[in-house]
Amino acid sequence: MTVSILMSNETTLVVKRMVTAPGGQVSFMLTREDLTGIYPGMYRYCLSVRSGTRLLRTFRTNTYEYSPGCPLDAETTCKNKLNEWEHEIMDTTSGFQESAKGPSKWLPPVPHSDVIVIQGSPRGDGNCSTIAGWVADCVHGLHKTVRVLYPDDMLIHPCIGCYQCYNTGVCTFTDDMGEVTEAVANADLIVICSPVYTNTVPGTLKILIDRFIALHAARTLGEGRNGRKAVLVAVSGRKGRSNFRCVTSVVHAFLENTGIICAGDLLLDEMDYYNDVRAVPGIKEKVSELIIGVLR
Ligand SMILES: Cc1cc2nc3c(=O)[nH]c(=O)nc-3n(C[C@H](O)[C@H](O)[C@H](O)COP(=O)(O)O)c2cc1C
Repeated sequence: MTVSILMSNETTLVVKRMVTAPGGQVSFMLTREDLTGIYPGMYRYCLSVRSGTRLLRTFRTNTYEYSPGCPLDAETTCKNKLNEWEHEIMDTTSGFQESAKGPSKWLPPVPHSDVIVIQGSPRGDGNCSTIAGWVADCVHGLHKTVRVLYPDDMLIHPCIGCYQCYNTGVCTFTDDMGEVTEAVANADLIVICSPVYTNTVPGTLKILIDRFIALHAARTLGEGRNGRKAVLVAVSGRKGRSNFRCVTSVVHAFLENTGIICAGDLLLDEMDYYNDVRAVPGIKEKVSELIIGVLR
C-alpha cells in the first residue's frame, strides 16, 4: 500500500507499507521533511522500519546531497533502500539486523570550559594571540575556566559540501573539528580573535567556520543548545572600521547559523602602525571590560 498525505506543514508521508515478515508484522514509513525555510529546495527524507513500537532501522537522506551531475536523487534512493530492506526482512536465511541507532555520533570527550577562545591568526605570537592571553587571564580572574584553541595547530579538513550532516547532525570527517564542536557546544561564551586577512578572516578560521555547518544541521534535527554567547575581537593592519566589514559579516553569519548570540564586537584597527597591540594604551582594559560585561 502506498499513500501520500500531508501530515503537518513540514512533514509529508510519502510511503507507508505493512509487511508480514517471518518474524511478524513490520511497518515501513517514508516521510519527507520540508526544510525549504532553511535552504531553498531542501527536503529531508526519513525511512523508518518498526515492529510494533520498536524501531528497527532508520535511514535519512536529503536533496542537497545530490550534486547537479549526480544521477541519483533523494526520493529514489530512499525508495530503493525501502525495497532493499523489505527483501532483507522477507529473507529467512539472512536475519534482519536491528540498527535503529543509525550512523555513529561519536564525538571526543572534551573537558568543559566556561569560555572557549578561538585564536584565528596563524601567528602564534601575534596580536590575536596576545589578546587571547588577555581574555584567558580575565576569565581566570573571574574564577571561571577557559581554553584557547589554535585552529592552525589542528587538523581540520575543509567542508566538502556533502550535506550528510543534515541527516545525522555530525560531520563525516573525524578530525580535530570534533573537539572544537564539542568545546563550543558546552561553553557559555565563545571569543573569536581574528586578524583581517584580505578583508576577511584567515583561511584556517574560515575552514573551521564552514565546518560548523554540522552544528547548524544538528539544529534542524532539534539538537544543540541555545543561549550561548560570543564576542568577536578583530584586528586590522590598516586604519578605519571599513576594514572589518567582511570579517564582521562572516563571523555574525556563523553565529546566527549556530544559534549563538553575538554579545559584542571589539574592532581594533591600525595595528600595523603600532605593530604590537601591547603598545596601544587601554586595549587590554577594553578587552577585559568586554569579557567581564558578558560573563557577569
Ligand atoms: C595575508 C595577510 C592579509 C592581510 N590583509 C589585510 C587587510 O585586508 N586589511 C588590513 O587592514 N590588514 C590586513 N593584514 C594585516 C593584519 O590584519 C595585521 O597585521 C594584524 O595585526 C595581524 O594579526 P596577528 O598579529 O594576530 O597575526 C593582512 C595581513 C596578512 C598577513
